[in-house]
Amino acid sequence: MDIQLINKLITFEGIDGSGKSTQIQLLNDWFDSNKIKINNIREPGGNNISEVIREVLLDRDNKINSFSETLLFLASRAQLVDETILPLLAKDEFVICDRFIDSTVVYQGYGRGLDIDLINKINLVTTQGILPHLTIYINIDVDMSVARRSVVNNDRMEAVGKLFLSNVKKGYDELADLYSERIKMINGDDTISNIQNNIQNIIKEQYKGLIC
Ligand code: ADP
Ligand code: TYD
Repeated sequence: MDIQLINKLITFEGIDGSGKSTQIQLLNDWFDSNKIKINNIREPGGNNISEVIREVLLDRDNKINSFSETLLFLASRAQLVDETILPLLAKDEFVICDRFIDSTVVYQGYGRGLDIDLINKINLVTTQGILPHLTIYINIDVDMSVARRSVVNNDRMEAVGKLFLSNVKKGYDELADLYSERIKMINGDDTISNIQNNIQNIIKEQYKGLIC
């Protein structure tokens, strides 16, 4: 299976509350001001089937075992890649994805304790070999994640404890070390505008000549 490395797929990763949605929204304005079209996608979700799977996954009333949870995240991704991401990349458009393959490795692998090699293998099948050209990892610590989130409206994944989140963060830190070419780590404990500037600089560097 070919792994396409240079494409316009940019993914955002980080523990809950790290600021991904905030930064993606600002990035939209920046791309707009550069008159470059971008497509925003969130995981799990992004199309009819994946949004239905999202509801099942995040509903606090559902008791889902870890393996079935993993397969649901992967099923959602398989549909999203095939129906939405690949056609957009084929048109050479930018796709910004709020979470992607690394989320499953860290949440279900490092967090739930599932076999990481197995997750990597299924990830590769679900993405049809596509890897993001760039992954922005916004790094915050677990206490900041908890402090930034509402305790009232936590979804099923957010309702898990601090130990789980610490393992997830450890996973992100290790992946950033392991795949430092692709994953660029940014300090999320900074002002929103400083973080945005850092992200824009990284994107300019990665897509030289395309964005000023
Ligand atoms: P995520 O999408 O990663 O879960 P959000 O962008 O929704 O994170 O941010 C979670 C909360 O933290 C929001 O209330 C947001 O306004 C706030 N927030 C985001 N970035 C910062 C920052 N750099 N400093 C302080 N608060 C922030
Ligand atoms: P979401 O509300 O999108 O969280 P956030 O705003 O932090 O991105 O909820 C997605 C939740 O699902 C989040 O807690 C991370 C989790 N998740 C996994 O556990 N595995 C995965 O593969 C993905 C994509 C998300």
